[in-house]
Amino acid sequence: MGAKPAIAESVARSALVEAMRAGDSVRGLTSPNPPVGAVILNAEGEIVGVGATQPPGSAHAEIMALRAAGERARGGTAVVTLEPCNHTGRTGPCSQALIAAGIAAVDYLHADPNPVATGGAAALAAAGLKVRQVSAPDAAGVSDALIPWLLSVREQRPHVTLKFAQTLDGFTAAIDGTSQWITGTQARQWVHADRARRDAIIIGTGTAFADDPSLTARYPDGSLSEHQPRRVVIGRRDLTAAGDVARNLRRLGYEQYPSVEEALVGLYAEGARDVLVEGGAGLASAFLEADLVDAISAYVAPVLLGAGRGVLDRALVQTLALAPRFHRVETIALGEDVLIEYAR
Ligand SMILES: NC(=O)c1ccc[n+]([C@@H]2O[C@H](COP(=O)([O-])OP(=O)(O)OC[C@H]3O[C@@H](n4cnc5c(N)ncnc54)[C@H](OP(=O)(O)O)[C@@H]3O)[C@@H](O)[C@H]2O)c1
Repeated sequence: MGAKPAIAESVARSALVEAMRAGDSVRGLTSPNPPVGAVILNAEGEIVGVGATQPPGSAHAEIMALRAAGERARGGTAVVTLEPCNHTGRTGPCSQALIAAGIAAVDYLHADPNPVATGGAAALAAAGLKVRQVSAPDAAGVSDALIPWLLSVREQRPHVTLKFAQTLDGFTAAIDGTSQWITGTQARQWVHADRARRDAIIIGTGTAFADDPSLTARYPDGSLSEHQPRRVVIGRRDLTAAGDVARNLRRLGYEQYPSVEEALVGLYAEGARDVLVEGGAGLASAFLEADLVDAISAYVAPVLLGAGRGVLDRALVQTLALAPRFHRVETIALGEDVLIEYAR
């Protein structure tokens, strides 16, 4: 195992951006496994393989990237968004596959928090590979697809994003209850693309009755995305005894849970790691009161109502100093609207 010249830092960083993009491209398709991306560079630092996690039971990202690279992997570098696994689950350990392929160095972004899979970095180093943990690049438009999964391992529940569309003055519906459509076409298309990356969409019974939503992920032409998230309703009211309401959910199928906590326990047990709460105000307030909101996607439209229904339906605190605060992660212009993404 002679001393290999390290690849240039700029090469390593752009390979990491590629690996992050590859991981991001399979969000929604891998749960309960993480959406990992991997890039193989040959000994000269050229990209010779890109891979991403396949659906559960199929190949991990490193294996896909190694397959694409073939013999060109020998003496090269693997750049991976998650520490290569070291255990034999439904697939063999990725650390051993990297060693067998003759990889000389491994860069990884996140350490594996999963107690059964951890130890990959140590196994690789013990086999003589140059292993290092690298930090996330500060590149615009590259998101870290592993954040929800990492939280789900830590908290043993799905990562929760609260999504709402509001007017400039903070309302989600007019006083007559009309709320379609506050935002424009681009924002609504973005919402559908976002749904296709989630494991479940959650609403309260109030929204199920009021809006008769389908909770499907659709392309701009109206056709269904390949991946459809689970449709979940929280509340005790019986949708099946509701006569002429919630017809779409009854037609398409849904799961119902009597409480926020039971929903998260049940969904986690069924493999969901990344869920989107789409309201309404009662359910949004319940998630915030339970301190179970990890991220917020706020779509803000240049519309003013003066009065109407708010994003939340009750006070969370009595004084500002006690209010939960989030930090801004990204701001995305969508036509006349703006999507602001926040994290706890
Ligand atoms: N602009 C937007 O982004 C947006 C998004 C969604 C909805 N909306 C609007 O919001 C309105 C509906 O809001 P809403 O507040 O009436 O209804 P909601 O929040 O959808 O549902 C409220 C119901 O959720 C259940 N629930 C809430 N907290 C719970 C908890 N901690 N445990 C168990 N169940 C809980 C209860 O169901 P049970 O009573 O059955 O037990 C409660 O009655 C609609 O008009 C809709 O158009 C707007």
